[in-house]
Amino acid sequence: MDCSFLSQEGKVALVTGGSRGIGKAIALAFADAGADLVLASRKLETLEKVADEIRAMGRKALCVPTHVKKIPDLENLVEKAMAEFGRIDILVNNAATNPAMGHVVDTEEGVFDHIIATNLKGYFMLSKLVGKIMRDQKSGNIVNISSAGGVSPVEGLGPYCISKAGINMLTKQMALELGPSNVRVNAIAPRIVKTDFSKALWTNDKLMEMEFKFTPLKCVATPEEMAQAALYLASSASNYMTGHILVINGGAFF
Ligand SMILES: NC(=O)c1ccc[n+]([C@@H]2O[C@H](COP(=O)([O-])OP(=O)(O)OC[C@H]3O[C@@H](n4cnc5c(N)ncnc54)[C@H](OP(=O)(O)O)[C@@H]3O)[C@@H](O)[C@H]2O)c1
Repeated sequence: MDCSFLSQEGKVALVTGGSRGIGKAIALAFADAGADLVLASRKLETLEKVADEIRAMGRKALCVPTHVKKIPDLENLVEKAMAEFGRIDILVNNAATNPAMGHVVDTEEGVFDHIIATNLKGYFMLSKLVGKIMRDQKSGNIVNISSAGGVSPVEGLGPYCISKAGINMLTKQMALELGPSNVRVNAIAPRIVKTDFSKALWTNDKLMEMEFKFTPLKCVATPEEMAQAALYLASSASNYMTGHILVINGGAFF
């Protein structure tokens, strides 16, 4: 089968949180499909290790230490990407946080502000900066890594779920606004993916037993499975999709 519709040859992809987990898997999948990469997260050292893997595949990789809550960092990230490559074809908003578990009524205001500023405002600001470039280019593709928790509530994850629900509407709103400029905006909403982020969940046997009662595929996802979905959304294979929230949850029914 000719799979050239998945090719990212000649494209420049910017991935936040590209040093590990889902972001790393996405960066490697895009490089494998032919893209050059801009990688952003807080720690340069871990980013450089991923960049070395990408360079070994014959692609270019630029690492820019970035805290997605800090607007000057995001401005610097976009400036550096444009100075190096002169264009951004794909943006993957992926870096997010969940520092606290608990019910909404017990959540400190400062914790709520931090989650919203990092997750929702971080995605908003970077999408705004890169979206303008894509609008001028008259082409582009934004993939937001959301969460199944942005679609249905999850016990103990209130503020995080609220931030992800905001990301889903950011996705739909920007799809509406940028569609006429040939820029597509979609989101992936995973349930549990085997990364550091959710280690407390997938290492809890009791919790997983409960989870799998309602999950037909009886396992959690791998970062690579999310990367394949991101590649699909960023490629011409999904040319007629925009404003879509792709829930990937092993068929979970809760
Ligand atoms: N794993 C799951 O079960 C799951 C489920 C649903 C949705 N998601 C979503 O998937 C995305 C990726 O999660 P993951 O599981 O891959 O997490 P992960 O393995 O913990 O990786 C997080 C990545 O983001 C970076 N990062 C964290 N905070 C940052 C910040 N403030 N500024 C810049 N970079 C930051 C980290 O690098 P540094 O530490 O160096 O900054 C790392 O590269 C998140 O949006 C998460 O909400 C995950």
